[in-house]
Amino acid sequence: MSVLEIRNLHASVEDTEILKGVNLVLHTGEIHALMGPNGSGKSTLAYVIAGHPHYEVTEGDILLDGESILDMEADERARAGIFLAFQYPVAVPGVSVANFLRTAVSNVRGYTEKAREDDSSVIGSNLMPMREFRKELNRKMKEFNVDPSFARRYLNEGFSGGEKKRTEVLQMAMLEPKFAILDESDSGLDIDALKVVADGINKLATPDRGFLLITHYQRILDYVKPDYVSIFYDGRIVQTGGPEIAHMLEERGYSWVEEEFGKSKATA
Ligand SMILES: Nc1ncnc2c1ncn2[C@@H]1O[C@H](COP(=O)(O)OP(=O)(O)O)[C@@H](O)[C@H]1O
Ligand SMILES: [Mg+2]
Repeated sequence: MSVLEIRNLHASVEDTEILKGVNLVLHTGEIHALMGPNGSGKSTLAYVIAGHPHYEVTEGDILLDGESILDMEADERARAGIFLAFQYPVAVPGVSVANFLRTAVSNVRGYTEKAREDDSSVIGSNLMPMREFRKELNRKMKEFNVDPSFARRYLNEGFSGGEKKRTEVLQMAMLEPKFAILDESDSGLDIDALKVVADGINKLATPDRGFLLITHYQRILDYVKPDYVSIFYDGRIVQTGGPEIAHMLEERGYSWVEEEFGKSKATA
């Protein structure tokens, strides 16, 4: 079992404090949904965990199995088993889905690093061997109902919402992270695309993997059953409970969160 622990995390972007003391413990085998109003800092938390260089951690720590990961670069964190799916995936013309995945998998599985250490000049030695990669990709495309023609298409270029989600799920399936952070993977999706994501998460939610599912809306939680639901507001978690929290948010919206935990009250 692995544990990702976020301890009193404070982080700033361009000298503005966005995260104001986040505490969260995620074990493998758990799905933890993080729900909160727009602008509360959910995406910031996701980026800070993944190691985006734009954010500065000013206090607190992030521990993976008891070891701080704060000094690790984003690619080292990925190798350690942390995966972040972006809220807004970018199109990369000229890079096929297969090439993108092969590069990502090679980095996460240490091929790239090993080639660097060996100072290897053999072309392609920093990548997972093609035949091995292809075999695994084909197997996983089948398992996750991705059309084989997909592998040759340019990454995210002209992809529908559902196709972007399929790529995301396939990427997760290939990278086999210990901890997957999905940031608003459900926003703007039609019901079919939503089901693609939900099915993917449910298939990948094995005992050796933990999910932090960041979402504004309750609806994906109709398909993915979280173990815990936390409410995120103004840079921190203000309440944690079970799935009933999500239902309460659906009924009551977020305005009461502001009334209950808002700044005016805190400073009054
Ligand atoms: N790169 C940035 N530069 C300046 N402010 C930012 C940046 N990224 C996020 N913020 C600010 O941080 C706050 C939290 O944003 P975000 O983490 O995206 O929230 P959420 O994902 O909950 O909607 C917002 O007020 C946003 O304007
Ligand atoms: Mg966001």
